[in-house]
Amino acid sequence: MLPVSLVAGSAWIGSEGITTMKALVLSGGMGTRLRPFTHSMPKQLMPIANRPVVEHVLDDVRRAGAVDVGVVVGDHAEEIERAVGDGSRLGLRLTYLRQDAPLGLAHCVLLARDFLGDDDFLMYLGDNILSDGVAGMARAFAADRPDVQLAVHRVPDPREFGVAVVGDDGTVLRMEEKPQDPPGDLAVMGAYFFTSAIHEAVAAIRPSPRGELEITDAIQWLVSAGRPVRAVEHTGFWQDAGDIPGVLRCNRWALDGTRREIRGWVDESSVLNGPVVVEPGARIVRSRIDGPVIVGARTVIEDGHVGPHTSVGRDCVIRRSGIADSIVLDDAELVGVPGLHSSIIGRSASVRPTDTSALGPSLVIGDHGRAEVRI
Ligand code: TTP
Repeated sequence: MLPVSLVAGSAWIGSEGITTMKALVLSGGMGTRLRPFTHSMPKQLMPIANRPVVEHVLDDVRRAGAVDVGVVVGDHAEEIERAVGDGSRLGLRLTYLRQDAPLGLAHCVLLARDFLGDDDFLMYLGDNILSDGVAGMARAFAADRPDVQLAVHRVPDPREFGVAVVGDDGTVLRMEEKPQDPPGDLAVMGAYFFTSAIHEAVAAIRPSPRGELEITDAIQWLVSAGRPVRAVEHTGFWQDAGDIPGVLRCNRWALDGTRREIRGWVDESSVLNGPVVVEPGARIVRSRIDGPVIVGARTVIEDGHVGPHTSVGRDCVIRRSGIADSIVLDDAELVGVPGLHSSIIGRSASVRPTDTSALGPSLVIGDHGRAEVRI
């Protein structure tokens, strides 16, 4: 007999016999806080250490033992499908589920009803990074199989989150969404484990004042019905890549886990310190790179200073420029701009100094873009 906590492939052995765990990865939404990038790309494709954030999520889903994954997609469906494909590259089977409007996390469960059937599932927000992953939580859930298992994290200001009030034994006593007067400091994170009991709850609730079907309300519905809802605390790094500081924080965290790997070309006068990844076809010439840094394929860095904590995408040019604590997306160029930091430079963007006869800085910035300029 297998021990009760063993997660075996996509099937697990709980106290009530063998069940299958699926996963639902939420990759729709508006992404308003990540404009201007989300005008032209879904936030789940923002590169974190040069990989879309949703791929970090999908890796974690696989490590937790799920193979059949429904990916909820919105207006940017085609781009996500093009980037992630059928999931075979990641060891997963993906089914894309179209959400016509971002009507809330509980709406995602409603629309996935046929895909999920009566199986247990892990619901994971496609922009969340959890340093400890969810495999341990998956084992705890498989052993116990409460109707809901939440992941919670202590935060200094929980007003922007769902908040759980949790008893000493881990039982969730109450849930509140974005409370102005928080009843505790345990924020609900973006990884939830559900049995099929959640379907009755999402069908029973009504939209919140902001017009969304809130998963917090569905879980509170189960709590009120006296059903078993438990919380496990995650104490490591947790961040959603939902706004600019959040994306940079995730990038810093991911880069801290990289190891030196030089597969491109580095000339003799360049200095590389610490964990630096140079991808195939990249060229580093007369430059200094202070890791952790990743330099994407075919990118050229000449007379530059890059890092620490910087990811540079593919086919970029960084010439006579310096950049730290930043992300440069594919095909962008920085020429003659020293001292950039805490920046995200979009795809095919160009940053150059003004010529000496110019009256001042000249900016071409996309809708909802932001530039901070020394004047
Ligand atoms: P949020 O970050 O809460 O919402 P958002 O993407 O609309 O962002 P913003 O507040 O900046 O406008 O969403 C969390 C995750 O869930 C994210 O990956 C998007 C996804 N999501 C859906 O797939 N469908 C939805 O209806 C909602 C609200 C979110």
